[in-house]
Amino acid sequence: MSLTIQAARLWDSILELAQIGGTPDGGVSRLTLTALDREARDLFTRWVAAAGCQVAIDPIGNMFARREGREADAAPVLVGSHLDTQPSGGKFDGIYGVMAGLEIIRTLNDRGIETKRPIEVVNWTNEEGSRFAPVMMGSAVYAGARGLKETLATVDRNGISVADALNEIGYAGDADLSNRPIHACLEAHIEQGPVLEQKGVPIGIVTGGYGLRWFDIDIHGRESHAGTTPMGLRQDALVAAAEIISKLTAMAIRFEPEARITIGDLSIAPGSRNTVPGHVQLKVDARHPEAAVLDQIEQEITTLCREVQSGRGTRTEIVKVADNAPVRFSAEVIAQLREAAQAIDAPAIDLVSGAGHDAFHVARIAPAGMVFVPCAGGLSHTPLESATPEDLALGCEVLYRAVLALANT
Ligand code: GLV
Ligand code: MN
Ligand code: MN
Repeated sequence: MSLTIQAARLWDSILELAQIGGTPDGGVSRLTLTALDREARDLFTRWVAAAGCQVAIDPIGNMFARREGREADAAPVLVGSHLDTQPSGGKFDGIYGVMAGLEIIRTLNDRGIETKRPIEVVNWTNEEGSRFAPVMMGSAVYAGARGLKETLATVDRNGISVADALNEIGYAGDADLSNRPIHACLEAHIEQGPVLEQKGVPIGIVTGGYGLRWFDIDIHGRESHAGTTPMGLRQDALVAAAEIISKLTAMAIRFEPEARITIGDLSIAPGSRNTVPGHVQLKVDARHPEAAVLDQIEQEITTLCREVQSGRGTRTEIVKVADNAPVRFSAEVIAQLREAAQAIDAPAIDLVSGAGHDAFHVARIAPAGMVFVPCAGGLSHTPLESATPEDLALGCEVLYRAVLALANT
């Protein structure tokens, strides 16, 4: 069956955005609220303006590009994702979802289709959480899961606050959009895992997502001379950290198959080869589809850190910096997405997402849902991230049909 959306236009837009922060290895490095993020936002603004949309920006920098409907006061349908990337990210994570929203607007314009409800293409601020914690920051504030004030005060590793970074790039808005009814919120995304590719199925209908908790673990030891401090007299923060890392990983294996525990970032002070490390910080990401298991994991993290600290004379502090409950998406949105896939004979299966997404936060205040397409080798958060124009187009077509149906109900 031929598609309504334009596959080549969608693909070209994704590739054009990938040039902003593009890296020689084919990836993209475009951290949130940097000059490169501003460039991507500016390009998005030009594109949506050319498509006849009005852009509103809220105080956390979320961008809402609105195509009016016949009923101006009707609750809008939101469709979007994020334009920021991981420090060593790919071309598709997030970007696909925003460009799929834009492609829907362009297609409706080409066909002269009016919808009953307004449609808004959204670029959520700081989905990735690599520069400022936590992950999915903009959608969390929008949905009321985090306070605006404390979030604006969050600093990156250089002490720059979210508020300053937003002002610096000119994207601190004042639109008050968070207390209005939302008819539905949809997001297209690459799967970021291996299931669709392994099963040879092009469409994943996402029924919900894993819960996520982030912890900063600070290990305080004692700095001392590497050449003179006998091994038994050291309070080496890195050796304690290594023990914590191996215990955390062993714990994740006990909670398999669904637990995921990652220590993706570590800082060490003073960072000198011939000084015993006095301080280490581990940034821990723990995920599981069930809140009760996450409670158990959190309890075990506390216990194992206490054990390591008593064994090594170090002191450990744990701060929880994110706590997102597992999500179930709206039955109505899921049904619309399934129907859309069936209408174009696209094979589809249900999936639960281990990756976090902005639609998870919005799901707490409005009916929400997602469509996934395969990515090569299931890889994401790497320059190797790759997806085919055909799969991306098919996912966008499913999204288009579901958005159109929801915008007319
Ligand atoms: C989002 O990028 C996540 O970490 O799931
Ligand atoms: Mn993403
Ligand atoms: Mn991501």
